[in-house]
Amino acid sequence: MFGSGCQGLFKCFQAERIRRMRVLRMRINGDQVEVAAPDHWTLLEVLRYRLGLTGSKQGCDKGDCGACTVLVDGRPELSCLSLAALSEGREITTIEGLAPANLRSGGQGPDPIQDAFDRCGALQCGFCQPGMMLSARALLNRDAEPDRDAIKAALSGNLCRCTGYTQIVEAVELAISDALDKPEAKPFWSDANCGSAPKPAYRAARDGAQD
Ligand code: FES
Ligand code: FES
Repeated sequence: MFGSGCQGLFKCFQAERIRRMRVLRMRINGDQVEVAAPDHWTLLEVLRYRLGLTGSKQGCDKGDCGACTVLVDGRPELSCLSLAALSEGREITTIEGLAPANLRSGGQGPDPIQDAFDRCGALQCGFCQPGMMLSARALLNRDAEPDRDAIKAALSGNLCRCTGYTQIVEAVELAISDALDKPEAKPFWSDANCGSAPKPAYRAARDGAQD
């Protein structure tokens, strides 16, 4: 009797589980995606555990650290607090999609933000970087020449336990300076810092230059 009761309960759980699955349709990093997931899952869970897009980090999982930041229709959102079902039909960009988006828009290689972070050495463990770069990308998409206070405000939801933030802010300033093609536009940015950093191998290959 106990056994048959458990079997019944198991079937009941299974039926409930299937009933609570949902097929989500969204555009992720330029691709139309259909994915089945429990209907209570967050966008972060769907990205990481259904689609294998583990660039979005599961840090605090409660809205404090910003490591899970993705772009939803171009705006930064905390994917750990976003119900995946509410992202249906939206355009999602994760860190995996930044370089392909740059290529599609006529750029070469990584997004200029990624390039600038690399040149500035604006990372240590790297855990915060995907969210940090996506917040920076969203800022530069809406404001081509933000000042230092605007950069700090845009990144204020992204915590970094390693770098002390100086190189991160400088990296964003370098990306701005590069995009505007006028290094003098940001006088507080110093050649002694990231501007003179050696080119990483991929840049050397891209530019046909030697390190
Ligand atoms: S994991 Fe989302 S804010 Fe920390
Ligand atoms: S580089 Fe380690 S948390 Fe930012």
